Amino acid sequence: MSKIEHKLIGESNAYLSVLEQVSQLTRLNRPVLIVGERGTGKELIAERLHFLSDRWAKPLIKMNCAALSDALLESELFGHEAGAFTGASKRHIGRFERADGGTLFLDELATMSMKTQEKILRFIEYGDFERLGGSVAQKVDVRLVAATNEDLPSLAEEGKFRHDLLDRLAFDVVTLPPLRERPEDIILLAEFFAISMCKELGLAYFPGFSNAAKQDLMDHSWPGNIRELKNAVERSVYRQQEADQPLGRILLDPFASPFRLRQIEREPQPAKHRSDATTQKNMSFPPDFKDACQQQEIQWIEAALHKAKFNQKDAARMLGLTYHQLRALLRKYAMVQKTE
Ligand SMILES: Nc1ncnc2c1ncn2[C@@H]1O[C@H](COP(=O)(O)OP(=O)(O)OP(=O)(O)O)[C@@H](O)[C@H]1O
Ligand SMILES: [Mg+2]
Repeated sequence: MSKIEHKLIGESNAYLSVLEQVSQLTRLNRPVLIVGERGTGKELIAERLHFLSDRWAKPLIKMNCAALSDALLESELFGHEAGAFTGASKRHIGRFERADGGTLFLDELATMSMKTQEKILRFIEYGDFERLGGSVAQKVDVRLVAATNEDLPSLAEEGKFRHDLLDRLAFDVVTLPPLRERPEDIILLAEFFAISMCKELGLAYFPGFSNAAKQDLMDHSWPGNIRELKNAVERSVYRQQEADQPLGRILLDPFASPFRLRQIEREPQPAKHRSDATTQKNMSFPPDFKDACQQQEIQWIEAALHKAKFNQKDAARMLGLTYHQLRALLRKYAMVQKTE
């Protein structure tokens, strides 16, 4: 699929007003800043800004500013002359020049050094820059679109981002809503990803989501937003055993396994507990330690479920677990059917 064919799914008011703002911005040549949590679709919005503008036939050049060290990023963006530094045997044309006539997308902008920020500021002010080791000002016609999941005004307050660059870049700011703020779009997106996955697997059709799967989709808070939803749906579709049955559950956690590796979570017990000699002396031990621990877990889970009138979210909260962790335990102890 070529980039231009990327379909943007979403009918919630929050998302539609973003698309409306983007349509308006395509008519201008000013820099645009796209902000939003990880996985909310910032890159797709940057692509839309380019392909709907009259620059669409010219290059859209992308640069992930977090992927390179300061020096490399500078030479990658602005290019360098032969001999500019050790190892620079040939002239290198940077991304600003390659984007001439089109759009330069600066992703993960917040990680950029102050020096590179200064050069970008100069480009926005005067439309030119110099290659590293060069002395001739290069003029290019490039529209800048930048994206970040950091709060740039706070970084500017902390002295980590230039206020003046922020002012110039933020001619207009497109803020993408997190998925949890657009619940109307969750099933819509999930169906879109499920159908694409079925096509990829060569299946004739997607038989739909079961009610339990829909509930899984709606109950989760999607901290990784659309990317997380896409992965979870695709994983669930391809792991589904019966291709003609509605999808039973959404496999939210790819790490869920009884053999999962865990960090040691607990702090050592405070000394007074450990050295309580009387308690230790009077303690009796279970014949099967693991079994006793599991029985204890089951008792606590059952008690919490009863207390929460079988609302799993509330029960998880009572136990100090995430909804996920509780679901994993319910599955581990085959308590899922009992509670649904
Ligand atoms: N409206 C949408 N409709 C369909 N798919 C979408 C939509 N928005 C995002 N996606 C998909 O979600 C995934 C994440 O999108 P994208 O890479 O644009 O997010 P991002 O905000 O740039 O993430 P990050 O902050 O991690 O770089 C991609 O696979 C993208 O195709
Ligand atoms: Mg991105």
